Amino acid sequence: MKPVTLITGASAGIGAELARVFARHGHELVLVARREDRLIALADEVASTAGWPRPAVLAIDLGQRDAVARIAAQLASRGLEPEIVVNNAGFGLAGAAADLDRNEQLGMIDLNIRALTELSLAFVDSLARHRGGVLNVASVAAFLPGPGMAVYYASKAYVLSFSEALHRELKPRGVRVTALCPGPVPTEFQARSGMRVDRSQQILTLPPDRVAQIGYDGFMRGKRVVVAGLANKIAVALLRLTPHALVLPMIERHMRNP
Ligand SMILES: NC(=O)c1ccc[n+]([C@@H]2O[C@H](COP(=O)([O-])OP(=O)(O)OC[C@H]3O[C@@H](n4cnc5c(N)ncnc54)[C@H](OP(=O)(O)O)[C@@H]3O)[C@@H](O)[C@H]2O)c1
Repeated sequence: MKPVTLITGASAGIGAELARVFARHGHELVLVARREDRLIALADEVASTAGWPRPAVLAIDLGQRDAVARIAAQLASRGLEPEIVVNNAGFGLAGAAADLDRNEQLGMIDLNIRALTELSLAFVDSLARHRGGVLNVASVAAFLPGPGMAVYYASKAYVLSFSEALHRELKPRGVRVTALCPGPVPTEFQARSGMRVDRSQQILTLPPDRVAQIGYDGFMRGKRVVVAGLANKIAVALLRLTPHALVLPMIERHMRNP
């Protein structure tokens, strides 16, 4: 079976940039998202560079319960098996949890948590065989509760906690696991989440290509957690020192009036 790097959410934003970074470093790709036209356009772009193999494209909704089984079947039928899994697909929803649509919030858990967990575990044998690993995209939101975006923040806290523990569990098998924690990144994420544009966070903001490169470098070095950018590293360190009783009202105010 041919080893590949499987990247979810590759049709936009950080995922598309991760695909470009992995391709640039010689990895053969499988691109997953719902919008097939976008994935095909990215596969065309990658394939147009001499010497880079054409990525395979899987148009799959990862919110569906059978999504990972379908991915596994597609890979097997093409003679492919994961060396690296990049769990990047995810979305947020801004607003009070009690007011937001409940099914949409549960759908967020299906994607940000359920699919990520299943994909992190489904291919461990082939990841170990190829001494590869799992790169999970969390967020600086993972380091604190987020009133005004409660389920999203909690979902990213799960991604961070799960990935850190899996890092330890799979280390003896030669499988690296990294949680990438970006701060604000201008992508389709903000519009999808219904967030207002927040100019006060300019200092924390990094472009998606930079975040992807930082994530790739940290993963290849076998880091457990990669916080993207110095300003975000400082923010996370300060957050860890500050009691939640002080931080939560600030986050709440900020979510209401960014
Ligand atoms: N942007 C930020 O400020 C920021 C900060 C920290 C962390 N993050 C995290 O970074 C990751 C990528 O976000 P982004 O900023 O690049 O957002 P984005 O531009 O909105 O991209 C999200 C990607 O996820 C895919 N996706 C969404 N729902 C899916 C589903 N049901 N099945 C399969 N794919 C699905 C989308 O593809 P389709 O719509 O084609 O399916 C798209 O490729 C997310 O996990 C996000 O939480 C983002």
